[in-house]
Amino acid sequence: MAQIDILIIGGGAAALSAALFLPEKTRALLVCKPYNLGCSTEYAQGGIACPIDADDIQSHIDDTIKAGAGRCREAVVKLLVSEGYELMGELLKMGAPFDRDENGALLRAKEAAHGKARILRAGGDQTGVKIRSFLLEKLRYPARFGEVVDLLIENDRCYGATIASGDLRENIYARHTIIASGGFGALYAVTTNPPSILGELQGIAAFRGRKLSDMHFTQFHPTALATGAPAQKPLLSEALRGEGATIIDDRDRRFLEDYGANELSPRDLVSRAVFAHIKSGRKAYLDLSGFDERYLRERFASAYGKLIEFGLKPPFGKAPISPAFHYAMGGIAIDERARVLDTKGLYAIGEAAMSGAHGANRLASNSLTEALAFGAIAAETIASDSSSAKERSFGVIGEPSRVEGDGEVLDTIRDTLWNRAGVERDSASLNKAASVLEALSERKLGLLTRRSLITARTIISHAIDEKQSVGAHYIGKESV
Ligand code: SIN
Repeated sequence: MAQIDILIIGGGAAALSAALFLPEKTRALLVCKPYNLGCSTEYAQGGIACPIDADDIQSHIDDTIKAGAGRCREAVVKLLVSEGYELMGELLKMGAPFDRDENGALLRAKEAAHGKARILRAGGDQTGVKIRSFLLEKLRYPARFGEVVDLLIENDRCYGATIASGDLRENIYARHTIIASGGFGALYAVTTNPPSILGELQGIAAFRGRKLSDMHFTQFHPTALATGAPAQKPLLSEALRGEGATIIDDRDRRFLEDYGANELSPRDLVSRAVFAHIKSGRKAYLDLSGFDERYLRERFASAYGKLIEFGLKPPFGKAPISPAFHYAMGGIAIDERARVLDTKGLYAIGEAAMSGAHGANRLASNSLTEALAFGAIAAETIASDSSSAKERSFGVIGEPSRVEGDGEVLDTIRDTLWNRAGVERDSASLNKAASVLEALSERKLGLLTRRSLITARTIISHAIDEKQSVGAHYIGKESV
């Protein structure tokens, strides 16, 4: 029976941060989906929100709480910001490749709803890619590709997970299991997330009796590049608006004010304004005409590359945009030490978790901060845990991960969530979504599709339970 100390599920910033801070002489293993399926960290353009100095900590806390629309856990926000501040200092000492000016001073960008320019970036808008490869270089543990198909939970303890690699299924027994598998964006028809982000671990955790919280707080990014297919839309970072890009329509008119917003309003407001304007029959664009082409190529290399890939030619003028699902504020409920509620030996961090740091609407660039900070917190919690558990053995779950027809079912989930639980939802659309998803649950499904369906159904049931608009959960006019 394979028995290790720590199993880390995921390969993004949260997983790698946990691995970085685990105690020496730990037998740890990192398991993630194959890289070609993508990982959300790689798509993080904006950067990492971090107080400029100790005097800025309170103002970063205040901005986070304000954006969170009254639903943040204040103690967790304080922890996030102060731990994030300390941690960025440590990462800088280790050589983290944050951008600097010609005098060596850190460059900081401004993003929506931040009172100050406090966003650290790496390689301009390639922050996620750069930070992930920095952390990967520091990884001291073996890593392998595989899909988690089950968590080995009995009563109040987790003993590890079942991993599928090709046709092989195997139980990996671990004293501590850390879930850092990301959110559920690929369950939405229009998203900035890569296709691997199917919310399976949230569904597995719920199936095994763990609590999911705030699943209806789904954040939509206002400026995804509006391409045709595929579902994953390239992001045009908020930092572009922080540096002067404006949002205009097909009459070249700045229209956000009509909806009580401006380019630097919180993301939920801007998304709703863009969504409503498109719904009224207009088109929406990000006006990039004020940018020097070379500056754009150097400081926004990801966005620049995507604009070219999708057929726009420099100088770009204006780029067509639409809101897209971007980030899950909800997830597996944890306490402030990253422990999954009521479960020994199980932790959840990053977008997979609901720590309460983001409330109903995450402040821009707080996601990498949270992923890194809670990775470190999980590692500290594990280091201070001296409890022991009896060894236990479990059978290996036999159902196939996927069956024919799953693709069609996933597409129905995506259309249902996007159209009925998207930027705007209402009780009629949510009730309809609930019945569509319930009907899907009667079908013969692969194990992992069944778990994604649990996640989707929980998003809808939490949305139905929240009767008032709050943050990213916006109840529009009743539809049919
Ligand atoms: C962006 O660059 O606009 C996204 C940053 C974030 O998701 O916080």
